[in-house]
Amino acid sequence: MAIDQSEVEQHVPGEFDVLRIKSDFPILSRTVHDKPLVFLDSAASSQKPRSVLQAMDTYYETINANVHRAAYTLAEEATNAMEAARSKVAAFIGATDANEVVFTKNATESINLIARSWGVANLEPGDAILLTHLEHHANIVPWQQLAAERELEIRWIPLTADCQLDLRNLDSLLDGVKIVSLTSMSNVVGTITPVRAIADAAHAAGAVVAVDACQSVPHLPTDVHQLGADFLSFSGHKLLGPTGIGVLWARKELLAAMPPFLGGGGMILDVRLDGFVAAEAPHKFEAGTPPIAEIIGLGAAIDYLNNLGMEAVRQHEMALTAFALEHLSNRFGDRISLYGPQSAELRGGAMSFAFDDIHPHDLSQVLDQHGVCVRPGHHCAKPLMRLLGVGATARASWYVYNNEADITALGDALEAAGEFFSF
Ligand code: ALA
Repeated sequence: MAIDQSEVEQHVPGEFDVLRIKSDFPILSRTVHDKPLVFLDSAASSQKPRSVLQAMDTYYETINANVHRAAYTLAEEATNAMEAARSKVAAFIGATDANEVVFTKNATESINLIARSWGVANLEPGDAILLTHLEHHANIVPWQQLAAERELEIRWIPLTADCQLDLRNLDSLLDGVKIVSLTSMSNVVGTITPVRAIADAAHAAGAVVAVDACQSVPHLPTDVHQLGADFLSFSGHKLLGPTGIGVLWARKELLAAMPPFLGGGGMILDVRLDGFVAAEAPHKFEAGTPPIAEIIGLGAAIDYLNNLGMEAVRQHEMALTAFALEHLSNRFGDRISLYGPQSAELRGGAMSFAFDDIHPHDLSQVLDQHGVCVRPGHHCAKPLMRLLGVGATARASWYVYNNEADITALGDALEAAGEFFSF
């Protein structure tokens, strides 16, 4: 295998040298409007370290060929590189069998796969699906589409005032539910949800549990068995990997019983004029040429995070979140509303806020003039926006390459935006 993993940036596990980490990300040395780039939009998509970019380049430069199709050396090396990445993904999320890892285009496709394959095979008119008020549209719309076709009921776990799940009526909500599909960490307000407790209650009620782990897999140590998950979805591009690659993990008995989602080459054992026989999982769900370079890039991103250590990644994120909560509220008082749990232990680093009654889009544009990138909008979570009583928020989100200086820079830019809009 031609990709040299000795090129992966070496860090002492557990030692969080953010300036050194920043130097691994080429984009972070650029300027925007002549200001140093302060990237605070990693909940939307993270930046990529040099080792991820190099792993994809090396694939194209040295072993580019299609996978699982040919007998020549390049094809074998490409196939081995892709399957090595599948094993890395499995180990990263605590899965015991790499064949439980299905590669998709993104987490949205993973959740659609669950709805269209498991959902169509298992849900009957009158069955209920349980979601939460925190969900991203990717974990709402596929279920609404299915519910409309199949006459299913959708129920919602409500929220407390600080955007945690209110589980007081969980048992009655679960009555008649066949699947609970929930986020493990909100992309809007950072809330970490008690997946294990919900999974135990769901299993006792005869339901399966699908976890939208897009925000948590990049930021927390993940073990699918400790979570009690039956399905778990995430995207590569939020965990230092490329776009165009997502993951669906599922228990192998579920995958074995599920019909294929997309049909085509690569997902069959046999095709005749009167029908086909599907391959086994994961290939049954991977029709067509997969995103080979992106899968290899995802493997390199996992190497990078493993080298930092996911416990250390979480500790860093909690420290930065605690600093942000304190710094921004001390500095701005009533001028800023920070949504979501007010303790760093209960949340990740995606932080929505309102500032000085300035519209989030206006705010984001002025922050950009200071080199600071935050996302304005509904964050693909309109039901949550309605619950918060707003049309949009500004959201800052941090990752391994951010430090307190970045949060302070956000504060400085907010100060400047406040002055700009005071006239
Ligand atoms: N889901 C991504 C976000 O929250 C795009 O910004």
